[in-house]
Amino acid sequence: MKVLVIGSGGRCHAIVEALSRSPRAEKIYCAPGNAGIASLAECVAIKDTAVEELVAFAKSNDIGLTVVGPEASLAVGVVDRFREEGLRIFGPTKAATEIESSKDFAKRLMKKYDVPTADYATFSDFEEAMAYVRRGTLPTVLKYDGLAAGKGVVIAETMEEAEATLRDMLLDTKFGEGRVVIEEFLTGEEFSLMCFVAGNKICPMPVAQDHKRAYDNDEGPNTGGMGAYTSLPFITAEDHAYAMQNIMQRVADAMVAEGTPFTGVLYGGLMKTPQGIKVIEFNARFGDPETEVVLPRLKSDAVELFSAVAEGKQPVAEWSEEATLGIVLASKGYPGSYDKGAVIRGTENVESKIYHMGTARKDGELVTAGGRVMIVVASAKTLAEAQRKAQQDVERIECDNLFHRTDIGNKAFK
Ligand code: AMP
Ligand code: GLY
Repeated sequence: MKVLVIGSGGRCHAIVEALSRSPRAEKIYCAPGNAGIASLAECVAIKDTAVEELVAFAKSNDIGLTVVGPEASLAVGVVDRFREEGLRIFGPTKAATEIESSKDFAKRLMKKYDVPTADYATFSDFEEAMAYVRRGTLPTVLKYDGLAAGKGVVIAETMEEAEATLRDMLLDTKFGEGRVVIEEFLTGEEFSLMCFVAGNKICPMPVAQDHKRAYDNDEGPNTGGMGAYTSLPFITAEDHAYAMQNIMQRVADAMVAEGTPFTGVLYGGLMKTPQGIKVIEFNARFGDPETEVVLPRLKSDAVELFSAVAEGKQPVAEWSEEATLGIVLASKGYPGSYDKGAVIRGTENVESKIYHMGTARKDGELVTAGGRVMIVVASAKTLAEAQRKAQQDVERIECDNLFHRTDIGNKAFK
């Protein structure tokens, strides 16, 4: 079968690699791909949101399966269009993607179907929102729900900060017409539980933990993720069973009941609080960088698995028992502004896997081309060993414009 992967980051590199291990993958294309993916797939210069070009490419190249990586492609309805054309595609429809793109949709669904999550209320009026915050406790969590999503989430520690944030989100017209979801502040260890979902048939992946802050000890600004690992000693078999039954299966069933059945990867961003496991957020796609530490453990045939999901059949996946740990190398300055084009050397001395996130080739040399540049992923029998290997390998990469965290995985050893 010929397979097309849409996207270009480390997550797509890991997806392409998993597919490349399948004897059923006759040829893999990636649109647009990157310098690392190019060693496993033929990269085609089509943007990940250019839906009609992607449809035309899939048709004229006899693509039997398309796998979608980024949320941007889902949000412009790539899955809907492929299905209209009778093309097999792995990913949720635009309507089902709302579980990620609209905080309010996700919260309403959870409330209606009794899925454990932080208490909340939604506001479009500044004064009403302020009155609600004044009645509640601090810190309080303010999430923008609207077209400027990604402006994101503010955890306000003081009333002044809450007011300034709500002013920005609700009164300042540069954000456009928006709403704010105000949530109860939860505490506990965060973890990611991704499931393959085909309607109400679901299959879990190993749980992983992301590291969202830029610097060691969870300091500095929020990023797309600076590292991740599997498995998590603080998530017990009971925790897992609880989360599968009361969160992931319940939401899959709810999406079917609401007339927007989910197909693809449902990502549960969960927190183990003193009151039990609760949902922080859902994503409608593979997590990044979680995918880079999870898919290396996939023992099943990825073409068969992804095809089953795309066809609405029960997904079945087998996983290796080893632990994995990935450390992201990011451009100095990220997540703020940063330079591109710094030469990267030494990757040939690395024993771990390397997934490229933002790289390019220039005059035959590998150079930085994004905020997050690559992730080094080690596998081993124990997490401690995987951490040691990844830390060693990261030091073998030479580039004067990269930085990384040195404490990825430490929470597992507390
Ligand atoms: P989100 O975009 O919803 O994933 O939020 C980004 C980050 O903000 C999460 O990874 C959490 O660390 C934090 N966060 C979001 N909601 C809450 C909450 N209700 N309580 C505590 N922290 C939260
Ligand atoms: N790792 C968080 C995300 O993919 O959104």
